[in-house]
Amino acid sequence: MEIKHFPDPALRRKGEDVKSIGNDEKRVLADMAETMYMKGGVGLAAIQVGIRRNMVVIDIGDGLRKLINPIILKKEGSETQEEGCLSVPEKCVNVKRSKKVVVDYLNEDGQAIRLSAEGLLARVIQHEIDHLLGKLIVDYLNPLKKICNSLTLRPFDKLRAVPSKVDGRQKLRVNPEQIKCVEGLTTREL
Ligand code: NI
Repeated sequence: MEIKHFPDPALRRKGEDVKSIGNDEKRVLADMAETMYMKGGVGLAAIQVGIRRNMVVIDIGDGLRKLINPIILKKEGSETQEEGCLSVPEKCVNVKRSKKVVVDYLNEDGQAIRLSAEGLLARVIQHEIDHLLGKLIVDYLNPLKKICNSLTLRPFDKLRAVPSKVDGRQKLRVNPEQIKCVEGLTTREL
């Protein structure tokens, strides 16, 4: 599957609820998961591959989750962290999100699931549901930053790698403080 990149207008469309879960939907979810793993992401929404359906795949390192028609029922607390996005390559944006969420969705067998999530999982769920609403991390930039967007968004590589001495030689190392990005950057990828 090909991932749409900002500013592709397809990313601004809203997803529609899945009415019935058949082989087509299951195949789409499997292909989405494969694409997410291939790109080293921790989440992917159908909108990102041009499919206007409310389907999301997530794996933050504890197993694959497939969410159909996800709805956030409850939000609690707030926290700001840097996020990346497979549709906004090589960029990081500070995004304020709820610390904890309760989400309802259907799994691919059509069972209704209620999930309480916090930390990274809560953040990824909110990020992916944003995609289903046509929202992107660039929308969280303040108005001044939006004006000079390309100047203020730091490339991933600069963010991730900091020069440091290893065995007396200067090498680029990942700054652990920055291992917070969602989707485009994971600890597995590093
Ligand atoms: Ni994203």
